[in-house]
Amino acid sequence: VIKMTDLDLNGKKVLIRQDLNVPLDGSEITSAVRIEASLPTIKLALEQGAAVMVMSHLGRPTEGEFDAAASLQPVVDYIAKAIDAPVKLVSDYLDGYEAKAGEVAIFENVRFNVGEKKNDEALSKKLAALCDVFVNDAFGTAHRAQASTHGVAKFAPVACAGPLLAGELAALAKALDNPERPLVAIVGGSKVSTKLTVLDALSKIADTLVVGGGISNTFVASAGNNVGNSLYEEDLIPEAQRLCKETEVVFAQDVTTTKEGFSDWNHNSKTEVKLPNEIQDDEEIIDYGPKSAARAAEIIKGAKTILWNGPCGVFEFDAFAKGTEVVARAIAESEGFSIAGGGDTLAAIDKFDLADDVSYISTGGGAFLEFVEGKVLPAVEILEQRAKEA
Ligand code: 3PG
Repeated sequence: VIKMTDLDLNGKKVLIRQDLNVPLDGSEITSAVRIEASLPTIKLALEQGAAVMVMSHLGRPTEGEFDAAASLQPVVDYIAKAIDAPVKLVSDYLDGYEAKAGEVAIFENVRFNVGEKKNDEALSKKLAALCDVFVNDAFGTAHRAQASTHGVAKFAPVACAGPLLAGELAALAKALDNPERPLVAIVGGSKVSTKLTVLDALSKIADTLVVGGGISNTFVASAGNNVGNSLYEEDLIPEAQRLCKETEVVFAQDVTTTKEGFSDWNHNSKTEVKLPNEIQDDEEIIDYGPKSAARAAEIIKGAKTILWNGPCGVFEFDAFAKGTEVVARAIAESEGFSIAGGGDTLAAIDKFDLADDVSYISTGGGAFLEFVEGKVLPAVEILEQRAKEA
């Protein structure tokens, strides 16, 4: 692909697609990781003398309607504070916008535009007509073929990859294409079914696959144990057994359980550490036991490359967070190259304040998983096509 950093942006109208889809509580941004990761690109374009236009989606609003809850206003306010240049939110831009050098215009949520999701050609052409150079810097949305990610790249005079997108692709390639070994992948989260293609892909390239959370429960069950009330997927036991034949899979050898369910769990509730064959019908696994966490940490410490997606227990509650914490700390302390991605994973890294100790934190959720699965990311593919034609 052509990189933004290879182009002369002086005096150019530059339209940057970013993924500023941040979690909000009302109008309060609860994690600014994606905005912080996007700021250097805006600053760089400004420094180069570009007239900067930024666009992003936020949430999943209904097309053709303004929805105040999905407005980019809170994001614009955040960026205005972080950047030493005039920053404004622009709602009317499809029929032309006079961008000025040294200023940042942030276009209102692209998902308010009719035709965004179906990658409408007329809409894509309107977006493309706004700029001299289109920069895709939205790794988190690269798995979507939409007007602001794909169509616009097709019709813009020049289409290139921004530093964040290029950096994410390079970090993921380093971890997956020709990794230093051993490569250890940690996949947690609640269900095997939602991560099956990822587990499958990783079982072919990882030396060791460490599974945690509800995913581990299905493996515990596949080893012939009664998992009581735990979240698990009986119908995927054969898949779990198959994955264990493909590569070394590490799952819980001891577990933390509760009888009270974690949805209405209160902090005085009792937890117990048990062996997998001791779980009672009325018990539920909510975390690794200490031996399993220590074993996972040991394996991680010996790794040269580490890929992490998904927590190992219900880490939102302190008493159920030990497994995730031990794993996260082992990753942070490892000398190997580590890459982490996914909303819950980033929240866990945040909770234990380890962001500076992981080699690379991906801003992608779905896009991160699709890349790991080996899927083509359409927004990247179109940039490759454009580079070939150039
Ligand atoms: C994400 O949060 O994973 C991206 O911003 C994509 O959002 P979407 O799943 O609504 O397309």
